[in-house]
Amino acid sequence: MPGFAQTQGPGGRSRYHTESAPLHLLTSERIMLVQIPDVLTPEQIRYCRERLESSPWVDGRVTAGDLAAKSKHNLQLPVDSAEARELGELILTVLGGNATYHSAALPLRVLPPMFNRYDTAMTFGSHVDNAIRTVPGSGGMRIRADVSSTLFLSDPDEYEGGELVIKDLYGSHTVKLPAGHMVVYPSSSLHEVTPVTKGARWASFFWAQSMVKDDGQRSMLYELDLAIIDIRQRLGDDQASVLALVNHYHNLLRRWAEL
Ligand code: NI
Repeated sequence: MPGFAQTQGPGGRSRYHTESAPLHLLTSERIMLVQIPDVLTPEQIRYCRERLESSPWVDGRVTAGDLAAKSKHNLQLPVDSAEARELGELILTVLGGNATYHSAALPLRVLPPMFNRYDTAMTFGSHVDNAIRTVPGSGGMRIRADVSSTLFLSDPDEYEGGELVIKDLYGSHTVKLPAGHMVVYPSSSLHEVTPVTKGARWASFFWAQSMVKDDGQRSMLYELDLAIIDIRQRLGDDQASVLALVNHYHNLLRRWAEL
């Protein structure tokens, strides 16, 4: 099945088929993490790493809000550096063709990808990302950050610690993925990067404004999309019920999307 949603609810059961589940599980109180493998090819990862090696890293606090800056200790590329722009373009081009990202994030606008680096002893304590962000170089255009993405550029065996930990009502979800893989999660969640105790962790991260603001509605659409893909493979496209489900997906999107 293309794409896989980690619907991390009680007992790991799908919230749509658990009769005893309280209704509030269907709302944005639940978070959905989507891991997308192989967003970048090994050649693209190598190219990114080479360009980043010779880049002008600066203190990461330049882009953090007041509160987040207190717990942030890492390095970033300046958003207007040639390397950040070029590699950001590369990532956006690749994402443009990534069906899982589109299905999970339903992006309306994506901020230029940024790049960070945690050397040994660097960390970013628990924080929340700013809800509204200014698009660099746009003359003040702002977007609402709905969906956060982290694209790993280091392999897990290159560093110790440095896990991305995303929190919801049900606990903490730890993410550490191979280079070239990405995790997509709601910007509304508290999250942190634990201290790197050995080696270095490099990544790209960025925010998107989604056509569907509500995390719960967006997650329902994603799961419906996955189910439709699965059922089309099993039944083929000639079944009236397949067409009816596709129609339902688009009618929900029509009802919930804001452009
Ligand atoms: Ni953050």
